[in-house]
Amino acid sequence: MTTPLDRKIRAAIARRSCVISPQTNACRLFNAARDGLDGVTIDDFAGRWLLSTKELDAPALPGDLVYRSLYIKFLSKGTKTAPRHAAGEKLLARFPVQENGVSYWIDFQAGYSQGLFLDQRLNRSRLRELSPGCNVLNTFAYTCGFGVVAALAGGNTVNLDLSRAYLDWGRDNYRLNQLDPEQHDFIYGDVFDWLGRFAKRKLRFDFIVLDPPTFSRNRKSGVFRAEDDYSELLELALRVLRQQGIILCCLNAHHISATQFKNILKQRLPPHVDLRQEPMPEDFPGSNYLKTFWVFL
Ligand SMILES: C[S@@+](CC[C@H](N)C(=O)[O-])C[C@H]1O[C@@H](n2cnc3c(N)ncnc32)[C@H](O)[C@@H]1O
Repeated sequence: MTTPLDRKIRAAIARRSCVISPQTNACRLFNAARDGLDGVTIDDFAGRWLLSTKELDAPALPGDLVYRSLYIKFLSKGTKTAPRHAAGEKLLARFPVQENGVSYWIDFQAGYSQGLFLDQRLNRSRLRELSPGCNVLNTFAYTCGFGVVAALAGGNTVNLDLSRAYLDWGRDNYRLNQLDPEQHDFIYGDVFDWLGRFAKRKLRFDFIVLDPPTFSRNRKSGVFRAEDDYSELLELALRVLRQQGIILCCLNAHHISATQFKNILKQRLPPHVDLRQEPMPEDFPGSNYLKTFWVFL
């Protein structure tokens, strides 16, 4: 018997047909309340589905849906644990996905995050268009998704992150796209510390990506809280941006509105600066937690 939930899931999947293509096989298939079930999302990584739920039990999916694997991430438990296998093939190794013809390694065993933030798809695509041949500084680089697209656009890239493991993953993402990581920089360290070092060395970048976590703590720069510290981060980035450079400013925070974020950015920007807001991708209907402003100096 077909349940109302079955129909909602099928309808949501049908609506994503415009996102999935031979060049893109990773997207959000089901986005919580707007698709009919609050607190539940399903991400598709080349047929391997990741269902995330805030409930203690996962909803049953219609039996005839076609996927290679189904994994479940329980967000209710408070701890950030790796997803659990629920059905289909067990994923014992990492596998590649495609986004606009660019490949990325995904790993369901790697812990809480699987290697690619699907909600950044439009920003990766826009960065690739805007940065041909540029010197690009990718801060808070994670697995270097922004670095990969900038390098594919012919740029020199510097990826900066506090995790050596994520930077190694990033190097593998470069190799997966026939890019030589030896021709690019992967710097282990604190963004605040390194922005200061770059300024002292009088280094300048054409393009800077700022996509920090909402909250982080480390030994060197202490605690970073987006609402208190983003403007200082922008100030430090501006010191190493060449004239007429571009900064991609992202913030993933439910509790800060786009207007508040824009005001935080404007505190440090000259009055004439062009700030363009980018919406979230169409497979995240009803979501606005990811705020994006492109800052054209
Ligand atoms: C939200 S992820 C960034 C996602 C990335 N921009 C992307 O789209 O793939 C945050 C990253 O920031 C790194 N990080 C957190 N605090 C940091 C700091 N103070 N300096 C450098 N990296 C930091 C974490 O290791 C993590 O990889």
